[in-house]
Amino acid sequence: MKFGVIGDIHGCWDAADTAFFNTAGYDMLLFVGDFARVTAATPVARRLSGLTTPAWAIAGNHDGVTLTQLLAEIKRRRLVQRIGALGMARRVRRMERAMAPVRLGGYTLARLGDDLGLIVARPHAMGPDRFYYRHYLKRHYGVHDFQSSAERLKRLVDDSPRDLILLAHNGPAGLGTTPADIFGCDFNPDHGDFGDPDLRDAITHARATGRRVRAVLAGHMHHRSKHTGQWRRTAVDDGQTLFLNCARVPRIEQAGTRRHHLMLNITGHGIEAETRFVDATGRIVEQMPIEADAVAG
Ligand SMILES: [Fe+2]
Ligand SMILES: [Fe+2]
Repeated sequence: MKFGVIGDIHGCWDAADTAFFNTAGYDMLLFVGDFARVTAATPVARRLSGLTTPAWAIAGNHDGVTLTQLLAEIKRRRLVQRIGALGMARRVRRMERAMAPVRLGGYTLARLGDDLGLIVARPHAMGPDRFYYRHYLKRHYGVHDFQSSAERLKRLVDDSPRDLILLAHNGPAGLGTTPADIFGCDFNPDHGDFGDPDLRDAITHARATGRRVRAVLAGHMHHRSKHTGQWRRTAVDDGQTLFLNCARVPRIEQAGTRRHHLMLNITGHGIEAETRFVDATGRIVEQMPIEADAVAG
């Protein structure tokens, strides 16, 4: 299957994008979340609703939340976190309805073929230092910490076909501890590895139960640090799985003449990926095969 993979949109999506992806020849589109520029996801979600190619999406930490709620999560304001969570289900539902027919997943298993499954992991992921949006996740999905989230993901793995793609907002733990690593923390290097432990547990469980995790697609840790200007590694391979960080932000550059996405082609035996830039007329202006760096498995 050939996928178009779209990283953190953060407001950068217009009719030209919809027109391109409707005729680009992809079997499916996958969105790693952070649709909102800051916190207004629904207007962006509405712009996706013209897509005719089948598509799955996961919500990012900027989606379905208010600015007050996002800041409360960052600054650990517990009362405001709790109050903000009360309206979150409604906001997420509104966003979900707005983006239809794009499907918004969260702890979801979709069968893409006899031997290929897609797991949409924990939505609204924001990092491993705390279990962000806990009140909403507890009420909506019955998970209250990384361990219970991992258990829920493992149950999806148990129901899945042999081959798997994981779609997440933030990537998994275990892929490096420096700001230049694929999911390393750049805003506070003391945090080191900023990948999520529940997603890592799901990968470990999938492998232990005889499954092949072909690709893990995520974003959140933007390619270029807004704090240091440093670019990070965006593709690694541990010999079993291709891990892609898709979050080129802004995804539209140079007055709309360069629009970023990734092409991912998964066959029975092989996997290939490309970075692609398209202009406003849908012409591919740059395409580069992705050479993943080898990392320990
Ligand atoms: Fe983002
Ligand atoms: Fe994010």
